[in-house]
Amino acid sequence: MTTLVNYAHRGASGNYPENTMIAFEKAIELGATGIETDVQMTKDGKLVLIHDEMLRRTTGVNTLVADMPSDELLQLDAGSWFSPSFKDARIPTLGQLLDLANRTGTIINIELKNGIVPYPGLEQKVIETVRACGMENQVILSSFNHYSLIECKRLAPEIRTGILYMEGLYRPWKYALSIGASALHASHFAVLPDWVAEAAQHGVIYNVFTVNEPAEMKRLIQAGVAGIITDYPERLTNLLNKL
Ligand code: G3P
Ligand code: CA
Repeated sequence: MTTLVNYAHRGASGNYPENTMIAFEKAIELGATGIETDVQMTKDGKLVLIHDEMLRRTTGVNTLVADMPSDELLQLDAGSWFSPSFKDARIPTLGQLLDLANRTGTIINIELKNGIVPYPGLEQKVIETVRACGMENQVILSSFNHYSLIECKRLAPEIRTGILYMEGLYRPWKYALSIGASALHASHFAVLPDWVAEAAQHGVIYNVFTVNEPAEMKRLIQAGVAGIITDYPERLTNLLNKL
């Protein structure tokens, strides 16, 4: 039996509207053992799960997440863009997902989306929410903003962090250790088996994104990655069941 974590990217987003409770619940039904999600902050400081800084693509509203109060944002239809049958889907809060994860034993990979729109205090708020749910051991915090990960580690040394990157890091495990991160969240194109082995020798794991083709999933499993982030958790479940 493998311990590889099957992370559903924004939930089971290949077949359900991304970052909604239905996508998270279905992911778990489809065998995901982890969920990747994106956290941002509303105008009044509520932590909500949505990928884009702008609400337009998934709700049709031409406003920044940061500019809308939570009582309005939480009522928006976040499902119809995907299919009219999901018109009742809403943007969830981080607390809602952590509650589901707590009940189901699911690992949560929270990407802090603070690269384009600045969210002062985002790290503190996310950590407070994770601690309030007692989920410190079931969460990994990731970000393309590595200064933010340093801040997370300063505020909460007990919570794991993962460095998001596309390519261009030389000896990425060394960099990870230098900022206290326990994982490299690498684009799958940037992952070579030798690097995975070298990182493992130094206690640094790889969680790779976004992998939707079974042949590539297989390559990465053989390379020894610890987690795969996919829009189709059922594909990875099928593959892992055959091993
Ligand atoms: O966590 C991996 C992946 O989600 C990073 O890219 O753009 O899908 O948030 P993106
Ligand atoms: Ca993400």
